[in-house]
Amino acid sequence: MLTYENLIIEKEEGIALMYINRPKALNAINADVLKEMEQAIDALDADDEVRVVIITGAGEKSFVAGADIVWMYNMDQPGCRKFSAYGEYVFRKLERMEKPVIAAVNGFALGGGCELAMACDIRLASETAVFGQPEVGLGIIPGFGGTQRLPRLVGEGRAKELTYTANTIKADEAYRIGLVNHVYPADQLMEEAKKLAKRIIKQAPLAVAYAKHAISVGMQCDLDSAMAIEADMFGNSCATEDKSEGMGAFIEKRKPTWKNK
Ligand code: CAA
Repeated sequence: MLTYENLIIEKEEGIALMYINRPKALNAINADVLKEMEQAIDALDADDEVRVVIITGAGEKSFVAGADIVWMYNMDQPGCRKFSAYGEYVFRKLERMEKPVIAAVNGFALGGGCELAMACDIRLASETAVFGQPEVGLGIIPGFGGTQRLPRLVGEGRAKELTYTANTIKADEAYRIGLVNHVYPADQLMEEAKKLAKRIIKQAPLAVAYAKHAISVGMQCDLDSAMAIEADMFGNSCATEDKSEGMGAFIEKRKPTWKNK
């Protein structure tokens, strides 16, 4: 098992919990955090015991307060470009995990923190969560995918307003604009995230992975190409033993036992 300085990984009943853990900087992300995330993503995707990943922030106050401003302060143009490209790469890797990833946003999700949440499949928030892309107030722009994922999630107009003004929004507004799926009292967030994960775990694993692929890749394509991807993934799901198991269980009026094959 890999050990991490800036992450805590826990596993329970098919769920991997990934805590971003830099309490002194409200879990802000530097290149060391990104490197560890890259390693953890590879390890969790390859781990047959893990069916769903939940990402959250260590501590009570912050999910991730952004990319590390102190780290970036003395960085030159090539260094900043490299840091942005690396963050984009790691978050894209996260987005492309076969397994579903849930963001449990437990506090500040600003800049790179909001971008991390947006790279997850599903976002849940505590009532204390705060979202925003405040980068232009620092003289920079979002650099871990925010200029691309925010408009895709909430629409171009809302994304531009949030980005140009550096305004932050609370959980209820994030819910209203579709940035998060659900909002829960802070002390119930993890319990609810685990409940959602367990509901996903009850379904056929390969079917969930094929559905994720069809939605995620299809969303980046024109409709005809996306439909072809769906037909391919539908075909793949029908080639699994779990198709016989799932349909057989329905016909025999029993619960399926998934083989993950
Ligand atoms: N980078 C580095 N350190 C950070 C940080 C960040 N993004 N956010 C917070 N911290 C540090 C603070 O410097 C402070 O450290 P010290 O105790 O050593 O002074 C510590 O975390 C606690 O923070 P505050 O005292 O500021 O806590 P607060 O409760 O008063 O405010 C906050 C909380 C509103 C989140 C505030 O810390 C804040 O505005 N942080 C910056 C948010 C931000 O601008 N994020 C975008 C970063 S740029 C980016 O993300 C670019 C990209 O897309 C790649």
